[in-house]
Amino acid sequence: MEIPQPKRENLLRRARHLIKKFLKGKFPNHFPDPVTFESTARNALNYQCDLQYFMDIDPAAKGFAPQFVSRFGGFHPPGEQRALNRIDIGDRVRADMLLLLLREITVRRVPGALAELGVYRGTSARLLHHYCPERKLYLFDTFSGFAAKDFEKESLNVGYNQQQQFTDTSLDVVLQTVSPLNAHVIPIVGFFPESATTAAVAENYALVHLDADLEAPIAAGLDFFWPRLNPGGFVVVHDYNSWPGSRLAVDRFLAGQRAVAVPMPDKSGSIVLGKT
Ligand SMILES: C[S@@+](CC[C@H](N)C(=O)[O-])C[C@H]1O[C@@H](n2cnc3c(N)ncnc32)[C@H](O)[C@@H]1O
Repeated sequence: MEIPQPKRENLLRRARHLIKKFLKGKFPNHFPDPVTFESTARNALNYQCDLQYFMDIDPAAKGFAPQFVSRFGGFHPPGEQRALNRIDIGDRVRADMLLLLLREITVRRVPGALAELGVYRGTSARLLHHYCPERKLYLFDTFSGFAAKDFEKESLNVGYNQQQQFTDTSLDVVLQTVSPLNAHVIPIVGFFPESATTAAVAENYALVHLDADLEAPIAAGLDFFWPRLNPGGFVVVHDYNSWPGSRLAVDRFLAGQRAVAVPMPDKSGSIVLGKT
């Protein structure tokens, strides 16, 4: 039976509220995990989602494909059980994309470190490190929000005017979020690219997540990381289809490169650049 739209929306709002409570640990024993809970809630509400919500290799998917997963491993490389981070990063497609890219560099044995430029409170960093805790993970951020000089340029170029975003964080917050905290987690505090340490300059990378929003740091990130990316590696640029500065920086960079560029349908429209 189809539930009328307003009632359905109300029920979904309620389900989201419960999920948030669950994630904050207020119902510790109620449901096995948030993904199963959300999927159950959606099914119970007979909610037909036109966009694919879970991949078929995800046990929470309606179309879960157990034979495929037992043969090819699903999110896990065959024969391995890596820790999948099911913390909500606010975008299921993006989380799955990052997991699959981590899986690719693992299965194809692409050597090199991981890096993230734009860490904020460490949510996506946690996902990266959780899956590949054996790789070095360089975390670049001011840990106090946008830098004034990037921001001034951005407001001139694209009219963006929200400098105060992402100030409610600190290195401590990030170090409490990223887990397991081991010696491979390497925070680099300060304005990028000037902040890059000798070790970061000398490093080779397998996967880089550029999530700095503004044109200047993303352009600097592409210039810095691309020459240091190993063949088979990826640079993911977030916000390519939502933040003008990100789009401008990537398009300008691609004009002079032979990178394979694949746009992604995650919430903010990332783009993945692959190196051959
Ligand atoms: C969108 S947030 C990152 C979100 C994070 N990846 C997550 O999943 O929660 C953007 C971050 O980029 C950082 N950032 C922007 N420009 C920077 C620069 N030039 N140097 C260092 N950090 C910068 C900001 O401080 C902010 O924390």
